[in-house]
Amino acid sequence: MNVHAPALANAHLPDEQTSAFARDAVDDLSQHPKRLSPKYFYDATGSELFEAITRLPEYYPTRTELGILRDRGSEIASIIPQRAALVEFGAGSTTKVRLLLERCAFAAYVPVDISGDFLHGQAERLGRDFPDLAVHPVAADFTAPFALPAQIAGLPKVGFFPGSTIGNFEPHEACRFLRSARDILGERAQMIVGADLEKDERVLYDAYNDAAGVTARFNLNVLVRMNRELGSNFDLSAFTHRAIYNRERHRIEMHLISKRQQAVRMLGTSFSFRPGESIHTENSYKYSIDRFAALARGSGWKVRESWTDANGMFSVHALIAE
Ligand code: AVJ
Repeated sequence: MNVHAPALANAHLPDEQTSAFARDAVDDLSQHPKRLSPKYFYDATGSELFEAITRLPEYYPTRTELGILRDRGSEIASIIPQRAALVEFGAGSTTKVRLLLERCAFAAYVPVDISGDFLHGQAERLGRDFPDLAVHPVAADFTAPFALPAQIAGLPKVGFFPGSTIGNFEPHEACRFLRSARDILGERAQMIVGADLEKDERVLYDAYNDAAGVTARFNLNVLVRMNRELGSNFDLSAFTHRAIYNRERHRIEMHLISKRQQAVRMLGTSFSFRPGESIHTENSYKYSIDRFAALARGSGWKVRESWTDANGMFSVHALIAE
């Protein structure tokens, strides 16, 4: 089968990104157990559904992290060098970065994101709202090495990785990512990282099983996306959302469970599903303060300071390159 066939071309993505999606989807659905990468949740609908998730009463991480950045912003600012370059790994909404930009005198902002859409909309608006700030977007997959813009070569570097996106990585991948960030940012760099904390299982469970069913729609949307972009014929009514907390591995797992025996065709391949069979779509790792510090230490960083909210729900760490 040739997943690079021209028939795959579609109006939504450059060919190269479509064929990466096609390759990953076919490979991952051929695994036992079946899986899909959470990075494919975020088409236009998926991004909107995620924004809706961040406003759910059960989904505490976003508002809690914003609260920490707001309450501790001046402390964070006090340990960051003046006129540094802020490099954000993955850039969606600018709400969080604005909190840092308002409190710290950054000379430059470098949003790094695979999607050019953000880079041409939000980034421009930021430049207008912070006239002294040089904005240098980089269109790249931040999980792989990339080059920083030449314009920030002489500036101190501060990385920013909010949202507990680090929780989507397997622990060894999180380590590899932090090491690569350390290499990209260079010596004496600092980094601000948000990580969701381990907590009462009921609270975790509810955050991924909201009463309004938005998380279920977010999870199922990846099937809608494959039907549209890869020409598959997933029957949405034949799969159901499941999110569980895996205590041994400190992670929320999201799955799409087949309600019955069925076969789905995609790109010339037939995938068969047993009743109850899962597609594992996401892990969201939860870190204790200590386990996060150990992860940082093992990846070329040292925790300089850690902040949490009053209820110990979420953590923001300031790392310094070792
Ligand atoms: C964007 C990866 C931090 O793991 O909580 C929200 C994604 N998945 N609800 C998370 C998500 C289901 C989110 N991250």
